[in-house]
Amino acid sequence: MLPPLTRVDHPLVQHKLTLMREKTCSTREFRLLLHEIGLVLTYEATRDLVLTTRTIETPLRSMEAPVLAGKKPALVSILRAGNGLLDGALAVIPSARVGFVGMYRDEETLQPVEYYSKLPDALEERLVLVVDPMLATGNSSVAALDLIKAKGARNIRFICLLAAPEGIKRMQEAHPDVPIITAAVDEFLNDHGYIVPGLGDAGDRMFGTK
Ligand code: URA
Repeated sequence: MLPPLTRVDHPLVQHKLTLMREKTCSTREFRLLLHEIGLVLTYEATRDLVLTTRTIETPLRSMEAPVLAGKKPALVSILRAGNGLLDGALAVIPSARVGFVGMYRDEETLQPVEYYSKLPDALEERLVLVVDPMLATGNSSVAALDLIKAKGARNIRFICLLAAPEGIKRMQEAHPDVPIITAAVDEFLNDHGYIVPGLGDAGDRMFGTK
């Protein structure tokens, strides 16, 4: 069982995150660092996966060797910034099934609206790792988890790069059963919903848009 909140304080992760935060970090470097951190966060998020054994033949003899039990995990990327973490997650679990959820914020109601979703089958039998770099207000993450649970998922973990205390609170109130794995918890959200000190707009920084 993972705790409700895991902050991955590995020195390499913290160093890489600092490089990403700097406003001079190039698009290329930002994307590469996000990939590398995504790999370590996924490693931490899966450290209690259940094992079973299989009989194999080594060149010397047979043995009962550990292998992952159950169906392949599913990775779900919340578009578009989630795709930056998805690459690193896939490097750790190359055979994972992959889904996507697209949300935008209605500027009048300020509520998230789903515009796209495509999810793997049998979600109820899989570990589902949802990836989105920035847990800010938590509104779109909560809505995405509502949707993923409505499609049957029961064993879910949420992986992000940076979290605001406000977003963590909102997520833990709405989805207390979903552990959060993050590289850092920052100070607060500003009036525009940006994490402070943060790193700016993660999507723009990884894709080179404005
Ligand atoms: N999304 C981002 O990309 N950055 C923030 O600071 C908050 C939400």
